[in-house]
Amino acid sequence: MRALALLCCLAAPALAQPATDPGAGGTLSLLSPDGRTTVRVGVDRGVLRYAVSRDGRALVLPSRLGFAFRGAAPLDSGLRLVDTTRAAVDTTWTQPWGEVARVRDHHRALRVRVAESAGARRTFAVEFRAFDDGVGFRYELPAQPNLRDFAIQDERTEFALADDARAWWIPANRPVPDRYEMLYASSPVSMLDTVRTPLALEFQGGPIVVLHEADLSDYAAMDLAYVGRNVTDRTLRPALAPWADGVKVRGRTPFATPWRTIQIADRAEQLAPSVLGLNLNPPSRIADAGWIRPMKYDGIWWGMHVGLHTWPQGPRHGATTERAKQYVDFAAANGLGGTLVEGWNVGWDGDWIGTYGRDFSFTRAYPDYDLRAVAAYARERGVSLIVHNETAMGIANYERQLEEAFRLYRSLGVTAIKSGYVNDRTREGHAHTGQYMVRHFRRVIETAARYGITVNAHEPVMDTGERRTWPNMLSREGARGQEYNAGGGGNPPEHETILFFTRLLAGPLDYTPGIFDLAIRRPTGTPRAPHESRVRTTLAKQLALYVVLWSPVQMAADVIESYEGEPAFRFVRDVAVDWDTTRVLSGRIGDHVAVARRAKGRDEWFLGAITDEEGRTLEVPLDFLPAGRRWVAETYADAPDAHFLTNPRAIAIASRAVASTDRLRLVLAPGGGQAIRFRPE
Ligand code: NOJ
Ligand code: CA
Repeated sequence: MRALALLCCLAAPALAQPATDPGAGGTLSLLSPDGRTTVRVGVDRGVLRYAVSRDGRALVLPSRLGFAFRGAAPLDSGLRLVDTTRAAVDTTWTQPWGEVARVRDHHRALRVRVAESAGARRTFAVEFRAFDDGVGFRYELPAQPNLRDFAIQDERTEFALADDARAWWIPANRPVPDRYEMLYASSPVSMLDTVRTPLALEFQGGPIVVLHEADLSDYAAMDLAYVGRNVTDRTLRPALAPWADGVKVRGRTPFATPWRTIQIADRAEQLAPSVLGLNLNPPSRIADAGWIRPMKYDGIWWGMHVGLHTWPQGPRHGATTERAKQYVDFAAANGLGGTLVEGWNVGWDGDWIGTYGRDFSFTRAYPDYDLRAVAAYARERGVSLIVHNETAMGIANYERQLEEAFRLYRSLGVTAIKSGYVNDRTREGHAHTGQYMVRHFRRVIETAARYGITVNAHEPVMDTGERRTWPNMLSREGARGQEYNAGGGGNPPEHETILFFTRLLAGPLDYTPGIFDLAIRRPTGTPRAPHESRVRTTLAKQLALYVVLWSPVQMAADVIESYEGEPAFRFVRDVAVDWDTTRVLSGRIGDHVAVARRAKGRDEWFLGAITDEEGRTLEVPLDFLPAGRRWVAETYADAPDAHFLTNPRAIAIASRAVASTDRLRLVLAPGGGQAIRFRPE
């Protein structure tokens, strides 16, 4: 690791530094290393503001910074500049797993400290970091006599957008709080109400700006509310889920907020891999991450979602010892690293949602499921048993059992859990995105790390890069996943082409691809699926999703019977889940994306291309492949007559020799895709 840090502390008012900002009066400037992005910061009539521009074009107009407190005066006016600090960093660090192996942290920083000129004379600082791929900033509230225990009523940060950009959003303001499991819409910023992040904003004529946050550990997650007063005012402000009394965040100084991030790219293709947020998280707290293994997994799961099996006890109970062993055998035979078992534990009978999982035990199994025997069986076959912990938002019940449960799992050699938070709020009324739940999610990650357990959380709070600090936080949901195709209205073909440029920028997604029985047929004698239940992709697109929607844990999501005699399953066996390099070849939000990734530790590349409901032909150069060698491209393409509605399973599997100088024509059916494995000839 090579760090190059230059620090200079200026006690004198920074306004007196002509070199930082010639001719701009009372503002300070911070330039990204490539000189293209400029952050301007200044105090104007007692108000601290920042602005962001790229190549001289304004992206964020002067925007206010500060807080409103409960029980204390707001801290956003009557301010004066106290001092500034600058730093420059250029270092490269390595991820134990990820979308890319090596991450360069190349930025310049400016920390601005301000204080009230009169009264309580409270003080705070804002640190800005300018990278080539965007800007991050966060508040620091130092320890001080007049600001000790505090209750944030509102964070008054503004994002005054310079353009009525086209926003790709999911709502955050429904009467029933949701868990990010919504379909995306797009509209001008001035039409927004309150939305989730990552929020992708297409400015007219480019660039694309993505607003999100990093290092969320003890704060409420940031939704964004449009607060503009007219169509020329495109101001967004953080909207934070409150505690029961309306307070958003409680804390004690010294305190630092999460980073607010403004990712900037000229084109959609440059948004991924997104490492801005990772660079703003602290380094790993797990000294030896060697035990943390990315993997593919199968599981007793889809069968419940399509009505073949049940979570509760009964004649169709899914999680039996026998079935679990069959899934372990299938995983072992096909090189999948893990098997998930849901519905194994006491508590599913009756209204588990309505009672907030009151009866859930995380240690006691149903009588027809022998946890010890299954764990031993899996261990002997080199398969990780993934133990499911559905909480139904009964957090107190879960936290009470956490240590005991993890101790048990560890004693059985279990190193992975999938957690779940189905319900609109906790029993006490806390939202998934409030400070209470943010603290809970952290507690689970840290406790799991102590027991050598990895976490894949469903209905989580959004990813803000915690995997850098806690690489046992492998993956999460936080999106409308494949499960919606089994009921709940399904996902339209464009859905995944939006996820790639929005949700995926936060971090890995446990979307659970790999449904082969796309029409969701039923063996006779089992209940019929609701009429609308079907998967709205072709089979080739299901394969392509393994490459496009990256995650260090990827499920072969269908019931294992659906894979019998299927040549296309070969791709699921072959595809990697840990990447050395990622290159987006072509893409447009909501239309299509093609991405190539090099497998970590293997001389192989994989390509995934997906389209929305329109058929498309993409010409992609293979110049990502190392030159001067011959490669075999194993292609899984939509057959000429494939269509996501009428003929979704028509797939053409072929092999051909290629070189880095070739171009490939990828013909994608409506709702289709293509998956390719490249291996040396
Ligand atoms: C919702 C999760 O997303 C899904 O994967 C799980 O099977 C159910 N909850 C039951 O916990
Ligand atoms: Ca879910």
